[in-house]
Amino acid sequence: MLKVENLNVYYGGIHALRGINIEVEEGQIVSIIGSNGAGKSTLLNSISGIVKPQKGVISYKGKEIPRAPHRIVELGICQVPEGRLVFANLTVKDNLIMGAYLRNDKKRIEEDLEKIYQLFPRLEERKNQMAGTLSGGEQQMLAMGRGLMGDPDLILLDEPSLGLAPLLVKTIFEIIEDIKKMNKTILLVEQNAYKALSIADKAYVLEQGTIKKEGAAKEILQDKSILEAYLGKAH
Ligand SMILES: Nc1ncnc2c1ncn2[C@@H]1O[C@H](COP(=O)(O)OP(=O)(O)OP(=O)(O)O)[C@@H](O)[C@H]1O
Ligand SMILES: [Mg+2]
Repeated sequence: MLKVENLNVYYGGIHALRGINIEVEEGQIVSIIGSNGAGKSTLLNSISGIVKPQKGVISYKGKEIPRAPHRIVELGICQVPEGRLVFANLTVKDNLIMGAYLRNDKKRIEEDLEKIYQLFPRLEERKNQMAGTLSGGEQQMLAMGRGLMGDPDLILLDEPSLGLAPLLVKTIFEIIEDIKKMNKTILLVEQNAYKALSIADKAYVLEQGTIKKEGAAKEILQDKSILEAYLGKAH
């Protein structure tokens, strides 16, 4: 579904991605794990068109993706960025409706809103509350719900568990598995390596702009060197 080939990104003199190759198959959860500054967000931002790579090819469903972010959204690729970014002065419900701005199938938008409320009951309880007054975890849920309202096929999730209490981390990962069951494909970036590997089909380990390891998530979860480097701090 998604193929990234020899991707190189520079920020001035910083070579942030150094020849990245990844593949995401339809219907799967693929996790990218790696420490701070490894280049995880840069990779997602390159796919969603926010960052312009200097070299490499990104293709989606067999075709090279366009360069403009709004055209990438139109293809059915949605990024839920790091740090939530909800519209603080709109209600929860209006934030969700905003997520469907490219759609005009009113009836299905209403149906999807109900689905989002089933997925995140907390958002339904607070649908008339201003988004800026939600807790951090609730804002994270809202950002994910808003992304889903665009009815994307491929969802790019950047650190959905960042800063959440353990119980909510568990909930968020359960919801990601539920999203997969809604026939969505998910590319997940996480520092919580244990959880990210537990729910993924495939995984990549990104370090200093290079893929250090790739394979079935279950196998990477068994890898001693990975365990030591990334999983110790994840529990
Ligand atoms: N706009 C920018 N200008 C200059 N350097 C940048 C920019 N964005 C990212 N970088 C640098 O590129 C490298 C990769 O950053 P990136 O945000 O992709 O890492 P990350 O893996 O997402 O880290 P984190 O886990 O902390 O979110 C870092 O060294 C960062 O400082
Ligand atoms: Mg990041």
